[in-house]
Amino acid sequence: MTFKRTTVTAALPYANGPLHIGHIAGAYLPADMYVRYLRLKRHEVAFICGSDEYGAAIMMRAKKEGISPKQIIDKYHAENKKAFEQFGISFDMYHRTSEPIHHETAQDFFKTLYEKGEFEEIESEQYFDETAKQFLADRFIMGTCPKCANENAYGDQCEKCGSTLSPSELISPKSTLSGAVPVLRKTKHWYLPMQKAENWLKKWILEDKKGIWKTNVYGQCRSWLENGLQARSMTRDLEWGIPVPLPHAEGKVLYVWLDAPIGYISATKEWAKQKGKDWEQYWKSPDTRLLHFIGKDNIVFHCIIFPIILKAHGDFILPDNVPANEFLNLEGDKLSTSRNWAVWLDDYMRDFPNRNDELRYVIGSISPETSDSEFTWKDFQARINNELVAILGNFINRILVLQHKYFEGKLQGLGKDRIDFTDENLRNATGKAYDLVAENLDNFKFKAALQAVMDLARTANKYLTDTEPWKTIKDSPEKTADSLNNAFLLAGHLATLFQPFLPNTSKKIFDFLNLKSEFFWDEELIFEANHEVKTPELLFQKIEDSEIEQQIAKLQESKKPVFKPETAKENIDFEAFTKTDIRTATILEAEKVPKTTKLLKLKLDTGLDQRTVVSGIAEYFKPEEIIGKQVCLLANLAPREIKGIVSQGMILLASDADGSLKFVSPEQAVANGAVVK
Ligand code: 2FM
Ligand code: ZN
Repeated sequence: MTFKRTTVTAALPYANGPLHIGHIAGAYLPADMYVRYLRLKRHEVAFICGSDEYGAAIMMRAKKEGISPKQIIDKYHAENKKAFEQFGISFDMYHRTSEPIHHETAQDFFKTLYEKGEFEEIESEQYFDETAKQFLADRFIMGTCPKCANENAYGDQCEKCGSTLSPSELISPKSTLSGAVPVLRKTKHWYLPMQKAENWLKKWILEDKKGIWKTNVYGQCRSWLENGLQARSMTRDLEWGIPVPLPHAEGKVLYVWLDAPIGYISATKEWAKQKGKDWEQYWKSPDTRLLHFIGKDNIVFHCIIFPIILKAHGDFILPDNVPANEFLNLEGDKLSTSRNWAVWLDDYMRDFPNRNDELRYVIGSISPETSDSEFTWKDFQARINNELVAILGNFINRILVLQHKYFEGKLQGLGKDRIDFTDENLRNATGKAYDLVAENLDNFKFKAALQAVMDLARTANKYLTDTEPWKTIKDSPEKTADSLNNAFLLAGHLATLFQPFLPNTSKKIFDFLNLKSEFFWDEELIFEANHEVKTPELLFQKIEDSEIEQQIAKLQESKKPVFKPETAKENIDFEAFTKTDIRTATILEAEKVPKTTKLLKLKLDTGLDQRTVVSGIAEYFKPEEIIGKQVCLLANLAPREIKGIVSQGMILLASDADGSLKFVSPEQAVANGAVVK
């Protein structure tokens, strides 16, 4: 079947943080290259994206920062929209899921499925925080991981060992909202019985898409389908989200992974309304091809859950392909927003102004298409200096310089009205480049497609070196004119072919060539005799060592530990506090406890008495340095024997971001035994 139009979606990024190069490499750059290619071929396309504004993660961040979720999404929606625009990701619509048209669309979907009996109503027990008076999303529960004993595992995942968890598996669960121990309470939700879709999904994916979908995508789907699907709840007990459109469903909202992909549809509706088009053609017409560009962590949602929802609703087309990418790593480590281990898009554009194509080139060249790949600043510099500058930039610059030097910038007709390739090899190489780019892009092989264009630039550069127009000019100026004519034709085709990958560079080259700023794929590129090209300017600047060193230094900064407060403890009443006896005391003597590395034996003057305390501070303090220091002591801690020494109390210390310890001491000396209250 030949398609009349393509609906291209790129994963809606959560509006709770800025964009980094991992996002760009995962979904947005490949989608943009693909869409630009389709447009170049005069194909009808709608390129859809927007902010994903619901879900527990956004709410959690808001709680942590003491602001409303709306403040967060408004900030990041505006910032991300602008960053995408500036970077040249050419969405037709960048929508948001907080818009009324999205609420209506998502609620209609839910109602349709509900009325068709597609959901199962299930009552189950879920954790409830009696202090915060709300059910807890998985991310709001922390506890000890049953697999690796990490004390800070989340209800859905342990970030230390990577296990997927459910809240009930956590040992000693605690609410991250209040610190309270959550209790189990009954609650009702609407589940999508995904197991019922297994048969048609197996046929649709495992049979029909075999050899068509990328192996990483196909493989993940196969593993989900072979392990068996389970019912998944499509609603949540949360304050932040799209209300469940049913009576008696107060306090319940749609599961964010139900509403987010429907966001593609509502965004298309908005776009169609603005452009006077029919949105339904883009989602329901069998001659429309639907493509989802995503990162690998989104595969199950786009290949299994969303198709089940679309099919259950009826009338909608299913995705033709889901060319998901793997992850991009940075300088030997996983990209991480929380650890600030990232190259932020905003920062890049500020530090390297007008060099978006350079980043597009590097990310395009290392695109994590079949496995994770690695961005390093040294590689960034090498690819730009050795490829963009030394090959493409050098070629364009040389032909402009020579044409002006020998022919006042005018292409020579050599007896003809229009200029055509006179070198068959070049004509063939150019034709082959078009074929390779098309074949690879049609199969979502962006690296190979970009390589094919760069190879044509290499051929062009070599042609110039081989024909040596600067030498032939002496005895045979026609030969020089002819080589340059061939070279300018190559330059025009390079500009055409680079359009999906390096749109700004293509525009610049067309401008140097004194042609219009864009060429369609099948459009004839013609130079008439005497066509005048512009005076040379550099296409790319070299990346200096100092620029790279700065970026590396900036990254190293993020390696410095950031203070992460421990989870809040449960409230105690004043009574409980008054039971503690905290007093000032002075260290009189200090010595290492033999055969230990961490323990110091201290003698303290507490005002009441002189006593011995064993403290685990030997790694941080030398005994002789702390003698005479006034500290605070929990004086009524029951005596304990440590390494054969009876310790009477505990010294108060604060632990810093790097784990180092500092005494909690009075600001000025006070009498020993003064009570801390
Ligand atoms: O993983 C994410 O960042 C999600 N916000 C992607 C959503 S894609 C789509 F379903 F909207
Ligand atoms: Zn673990």
